[in-house]
Amino acid sequence: MNDTEELAHAVAEARAYVMWATDAGLCILKSDSSADNEELMRAPGNQPASKAEGHTVLVQESALHKDAAAPGKPGLPTLASVRAEMGECTRCKLHKCRNQIVFGVGSAQARLVFVGEAPGEDEDLSGEPFVGKAGQLLTKMIEAMGLSRDTVYICNTVKCRPPNNRNPEPDELESCEPFLKGQLKALQAEVIVTLGRFAAQALLRDQTPISRLRGIWREYEGVALMPTFHPAYLLRSPGEKAKVWGDLQEVMKKLGLRK
Ligand code: URA
Repeated sequence: MNDTEELAHAVAEARAYVMWATDAGLCILKSDSSADNEELMRAPGNQPASKAEGHTVLVQESALHKDAAAPGKPGLPTLASVRAEMGECTRCKLHKCRNQIVFGVGSAQARLVFVGEAPGEDEDLSGEPFVGKAGQLLTKMIEAMGLSRDTVYICNTVKCRPPNNRNPEPDELESCEPFLKGQLKALQAEVIVTLGRFAAQALLRDQTPISRLRGIWREYEGVALMPTFHPAYLLRSPGEKAKVWGDLQEVMKKLGLRK
């Protein structure tokens, strides 16, 4: 990258962070006319931010890719083989009302995987997870980490849209579980972030409420797992965004990503 590209990259990342953080109520961008500068400040009611907290996240995206040339581990499935095994799935009743299976998106080399709940209407129509309003917020969260959707992997616990976006039912979760497990096995990521109750409870086999699960490192088959709130919940309860940002900062630390 030359200097101009590097600067453009840094500005794009700074913008993404400020968009998410401002949205999150973590900080507001305030113009100080006397000093003619802009300062990141805590919104009223929040704790004062340290400089490190308030400032831009700068991460090299390459830091998020495993060595693309590294051979896959023998005996492990690939994303393609898991998808092929799923086929035009009719294992549960969700197949009757879906438009399409929403398998997952992102890099097969990702070190970081986000697991959500189930596709909504926008995802069912587009075939890509997290593209609706909650998805746009997830994208901002990822970008605030200095990353992009292309360098991580994003999927759901259940691959077909439940009618009217109702919660997935136990038989549906059970039918789809082997495919989520297969994806995680294929990816061999270093960190899994579960978004919301269903993903955390499905992978951890733990019925503890998400409000108590979130923010505490767990392990799924030897992989570090951070449960956090679902972005759809954050859209309803924006005051909780600071907690999620704290969880994501833990993830960045674990992955050795620069803030
Ligand atoms: N909510 C989810 O959990 N997954 C999506 O793909 C979209 C919304």
